[in-house]
Amino acid sequence: MPIVEARDVHKSYGPNAVLKGVSFAIEPGQVVAIIGRSGSGKSTMLRCLNGLEVINAGDITVAGHKLDHERKQLLDLRRDVGMVFQSYNLFPHLTVGENIALAPRIVRKLAAGRIAAIVDQVLEQVGLLEKKDCYPEQLSGGQQQRVAIARSLAMEPKVMLFDEVTSALDPELTAEVLRVMENLAASGMTMVLVTHGMEFARRMAHTTIFMHQGKVHEAGPSKALFAQPQTPELRQFLSAGALK
Ligand SMILES: Nc1ncnc2c1ncn2[C@@H]1O[C@H](COP(=O)(O)OP(=O)(O)OP(=O)(O)O)[C@@H](O)[C@H]1O
Ligand SMILES: [Mg+2]
Repeated sequence: MPIVEARDVHKSYGPNAVLKGVSFAIEPGQVVAIIGRSGSGKSTMLRCLNGLEVINAGDITVAGHKLDHERKQLLDLRRDVGMVFQSYNLFPHLTVGENIALAPRIVRKLAAGRIAAIVDQVLEQVGLLEKKDCYPEQLSGGQQQRVAIARSLAMEPKVMLFDEVTSALDPELTAEVLRVMENLAASGMTMVLVTHGMEFARRMAHTTIFMHQGKVHEAGPSKALFAQPQTPELRQFLSAGALK
């Protein structure tokens, strides 16, 4: 049984049809990369998976929650799906620990003792337990991004979505964020990553999906897909400097 399934998903913004029948399925524990040109709808697809966008047609099932064009009550789904963006969006006036504790307290309404245990656990997972009482401005960009990942993990999601999480970071900071993501993948988390980093996709993702003109144009095991792209569009995308 797939944990994520998109079936013939359509999404337009006014006259701009962005997703024109996107379908794919992801098994539990799989890591999937979504690649494609700027504007091909990668971020839109992630936002649909997280219920941040209402789709026009088709349906999406994530961790047993089904969304379609009529379904606007998305809170159940959002609780099971964590999302991390390029900009970390931590609250500057709250410590690292307080940033992480916020959603477990307000959304999950957990008791203080349980929250404290979760905060420690997720900070340990991203290797930043000693920064619990620091403020975001006292951390590097890579550390802030790891806190953002920890903050998502504190909701104990079943699926994690990552949208260009390393594109604002220099190579060294990127490496420490990637290590955290690799550990998360090794722990069995189902992950969907949108990335412009082809090496990142090849290394991290079991499966890669190439989006082109609003559809899944080509998809398959990452190693084979990068080594032997089947369509001219993917060949051109890979040779047009996307390999960086
Ligand atoms: N909230 C919105 N309102 C209107 N149009 C939007 C909105 N979000 C995205 N779009 C449009 O949808 C298309 C796809 O955008 P999207 O952000 O999904 O692309 P992307 O593949 O993530 O690109 P990039 O690689 O540059 O991040 C673009 O034409 C964009 O202008
Ligand atoms: Mg994007």
